[in-house]
Amino acid sequence: MKFEDRFKKHFSYIQQGLLSSVSPDLPGSLAEPIAYFLQMPSKKIRPLLALSACECVGGKLSDSLPAATAVELFHDFTLIHDDIMDQDELRRGYQTLHIKYDDSTAILVGDAMIGMAYQQLIQSPPATLTEVTRIFTDALVKVCEGQALDKEFEKRASVSVDEYLDMINKKTAWLIKIACSMGSISGGASPEQVSLLALFGECLGLGFQIKDDLLDFVADESMLGKQVGSDFRMDKKTYVTMKYRETISGNPELASKYPLNIPEFDNFQDFQKALYDLKIVEATEAVIEEYTRRSLEALAQIAPLNNDNPLYFITQFLHERQY
Ligand code: IPE
Ligand code: IPE
Ligand code: MG
Ligand code: MG
Ligand code: MG
Repeated sequence: MKFEDRFKKHFSYIQQGLLSSVSPDLPGSLAEPIAYFLQMPSKKIRPLLALSACECVGGKLSDSLPAATAVELFHDFTLIHDDIMDQDELRRGYQTLHIKYDDSTAILVGDAMIGMAYQQLIQSPPATLTEVTRIFTDALVKVCEGQALDKEFEKRASVSVDEYLDMINKKTAWLIKIACSMGSISGGASPEQVSLLALFGECLGLGFQIKDDLLDFVADESMLGKQVGSDFRMDKKTYVTMKYRETISGNPELASKYPLNIPEFDNFQDFQKALYDLKIVEATEAVIEEYTRRSLEALAQIAPLNNDNPLYFITQFLHERQY
């Protein structure tokens, strides 16, 4: 069954949540770019995880919709600001907000989305409100920490695996993790269920960012909807570049053929070719596989791993995605 068909009902809920988050009274200079961004096609993985985590613990979908909508608006805010930080011109197949409009519009739309996210979040079931608000607010700071590290690492020649994992845990896995924990809390999960689903989300999120890193080097741009080679241009430290450096520095023969520092490549195509020739693509895929395995190991303790389990279905989809 196709992903879109499997979650038709969920996507329609999410759409309703997002539409209801836009106040009709906004000035046009804010309303128009918000509408532009919200109409872009996207995977909506985070709200889907929130709704599905709620479902997995026997909760009502509608109880997790405020948290689900809030995490998507949070995500949208980070993307809009991330595109300024990463100097990207393409997002979800469309011009990024700061290119279509300007930097101040993009900054303001991102800011407004944080507020809109809270307007949704506080509609969560009263018994869970304090807890989900705490988790959500801590995550805002955490993602900024991750983004700060991501920018710091651009200026360094190399980073360790632990430093990289810490950075992607904060900038990406954290939000995916809290989508799962907030969704399950909204659905009345036990503390044990919440921590297993958080672990599931964390492993899924780490694998998700490593796959995003890989796609930045090898994807088809029209399918990805983002500029391929963006991380190469910005000299981002990703799993792919770490593995490349490790491969070259441990082998004098390779070191005589390939530059150790990635910016020394004449062009992106040469680097892409090196990644295939040196089997870096395969090595990266193996790590993604390992994180998928760990996420499923946690999920198995919540619900059987079959297609009736929405979180299993999402995990499989993310593992195979090309965008
Ligand atoms: C992109 O997230 C940003 C990362 C954390 C890697 P998605 O790949 O979920 O983007 P959309 O929402 O589907 O566009
Ligand atoms: C995104 O990392 C992390 C956040 C937006 C917080 P990337 O910079 O790799 O995301 P893309 O590739 O631009 O979507
Ligand atoms: Mg970035
Ligand atoms: Mg980016
Ligand atoms: Mg990326």
